[in-house]
Amino acid sequence: MKPETPHPSRSARHLLPQGEKGWSRRTILASSLALPLAACDRFASAEATPLDVPPLKSIAPAPFGTAIKASHIDDPDWVALARANVSQLTPEWEMKMEYILANGLDRPNFDRTDRIAAFAQSNGMGLHGHTLIWYSQGQEAFAGLDNAAFDRAFDGYIATVAGRYRGKVRSWDVVNEPILDDGSAMRDCHWSQRYGQDGYILRAFEKARIADPQAVLFLNEYNQESVPAKGAQFLKLVERLLKAGCPLQGLGLQSHLWIDIPEGVIAAYMREVAQFGLPIHVSELDCTLRTDNRLDLRKQADRIAAQGARVTELTSAFAALPKAQQFAFTIWGLRDTDSWYRQADKDDGKDKPLPFDSFGRPNPMAAAIAAGFKTPA
Ligand code: XIL
Repeated sequence: MKPETPHPSRSARHLLPQGEKGWSRRTILASSLALPLAACDRFASAEATPLDVPPLKSIAPAPFGTAIKASHIDDPDWVALARANVSQLTPEWEMKMEYILANGLDRPNFDRTDRIAAFAQSNGMGLHGHTLIWYSQGQEAFAGLDNAAFDRAFDGYIATVAGRYRGKVRSWDVVNEPILDDGSAMRDCHWSQRYGQDGYILRAFEKARIADPQAVLFLNEYNQESVPAKGAQFLKLVERLLKAGCPLQGLGLQSHLWIDIPEGVIAAYMREVAQFGLPIHVSELDCTLRTDNRLDLRKQADRIAAQGARVTELTSAFAALPKAQQFAFTIWGLRDTDSWYRQADKDDGKDKPLPFDSFGRPNPMAAAIAAGFKTPA
């Protein structure tokens, strides 16, 4: 297995704009980037005939979602594309602790998530809450608290946030990314230091259950399918949590895919994780064309073909799940230029990790998704 491609949330987070600096098409066209980007996309589209892909929500066997930033609501192109293709939304950044507690524990920000929730409601779209407790956030706001204050803050945060959106979200990623990248063990973090590696997860789910008895409560992770040890560690964690009586009701497979995942691995993992009988959320699908193999001289067309094969494999495996386990299928953005891969400083301007190009036209990835929904594994 080739060395793990650094996961952007790990390797590039410090590069990624924290927040909504994702660029709308309007911004791009108004910026100096307009010409090369337009040329890049236009050149690509000049080569290929436009793809005829039905609206993705119309062919998905479950709610079809996308990540959203509050700024997308002000981009009419994005809104039109979302209304046509998705029936569910996941806040990409503003529903996270880093944004909500940016002004400290006693001054939570809900302005942008309230706006997203209202947009979802007025457009008849579901809302998936992301994410209550994440190893990578909260250190500053919780720093220096004694145990009693830490407990009040931990429990209070979940009660306040999950309570505020009770009846507005259908589900929550209660805990995000609890396992080390190499799958060797659970992550240690400020939460596990206080409550133990499983303890903070158990506590978070229990508090979330109290705050919103109706929401479906998920554990969310990435690379389960592409790093076998991580997938195995995830399955063991789920087993421990269920045995401990954790109100864990759904499993999130982020599915930030790579083009070089060996054929069959994605589908095999989907079948394995489905054995718990729980609803499954493909929660953050994208598939970068980039690899960390410096000697990779493949043409863009070959990379796109590899991307299509992996995306169809995932989509087909999801479509083959029992209906009760098909919770939702969410892409981590609509247009290539909405992707976090295209906001990092290392952006090569050529990556096409999402189903639509910067002008909202279907990419081959959209056709790959449609093909997978059409042919359940
Ligand atoms: C990413 C967002 O896409 C970026 O815009 C932000 O700067 C960092 O977080 N796994 C997750 C998501 O669960 O919350 C991360 O989203 C991507 C990895």
